[in-house]
Amino acid sequence: MAAARRLTSAAIRARKGTRFAVITAYDAPFARCVEEAGIDVILVGDSLGNVVLGLESTVPVELDDMCRHGAAVKRGTSRAHVIVDLPFGTYQASDEDAVRSAVALVKAGATSVKLEGGIDVAPRIAAIVRAGIPVVAHIGVLPQTASNTSGFRRKTDTERLIADARAVEAAGAFAVVLEMVDGDAARRVTEALEIPTIGIGAGPHCDAQVLVLHDALGLYPDAPPFAKRFAEIATIATDALRTYASEVRDGTFPTASASAGATNADASIYVVASPAK
Ligand code: KIV
Repeated sequence: MAAARRLTSAAIRARKGTRFAVITAYDAPFARCVEEAGIDVILVGDSLGNVVLGLESTVPVELDDMCRHGAAVKRGTSRAHVIVDLPFGTYQASDEDAVRSAVALVKAGATSVKLEGGIDVAPRIAAIVRAGIPVVAHIGVLPQTASNTSGFRRKTDTERLIADARAVEAAGAFAVVLEMVDGDAARRVTEALEIPTIGIGAGPHCDAQVLVLHDALGLYPDAPPFAKRFAEIATIATDALRTYASEVRDGTFPTASASAGATNADASIYVVASPAK
């Protein structure tokens, strides 16, 4: 049977002016939840470093990390468009580096790639697009370099933001993330472009919104103030694990009927459920 076609970059570009949701995911089971929720654009962000790998920043994240997690998200989904971040150090030095790194992500399963920067990275975007790989740009606060430059302060320089946004659009990006951008500036950038803007901490006027999954689901105690928590999954998980540990201690679990094979009585092996469809 032919594989279902994934949402293309052209289809996402055509959503300009239509509001849509994007969320990060880093593994197959959560990617499956995202797709089942009707969200068809997933970002495998290098926020992986912070929220999954326990790192202080995104800087140490490697291309291999992004390939492995991008592949997992692809396996957990069938139709979603999977944007995978190019991590720090894999595209800055040359167009050749940028294309080689983007190719590695696509071979692992990315439908498109994302990189940080405006006017300065426009040549890299053009080179990757020429290689046949769709690109999402990312302007405003740039976490890969924020600690060495102007930091994580909200960006308010509208003219600079518009210049960066126009440069990445002209270079061939099919969408652009606006991170921590003043709401009015984000509106002006959105109006100035023909490609969709995807806001995070950038107010209500972008075409699309993106959140980090762990912030949206309450998987972490601390989340940025703009990130609404739609659930408290860490609390639910901790409660469930407390119950499990207590049932093991007091002998409630396992019961004779919950022993291996009882759920599949005729089988001498058990089958681990796969999140992939
Ligand atoms: O890495 C990431 O999750 C991102 C989002 C914050 C847009 O780039």
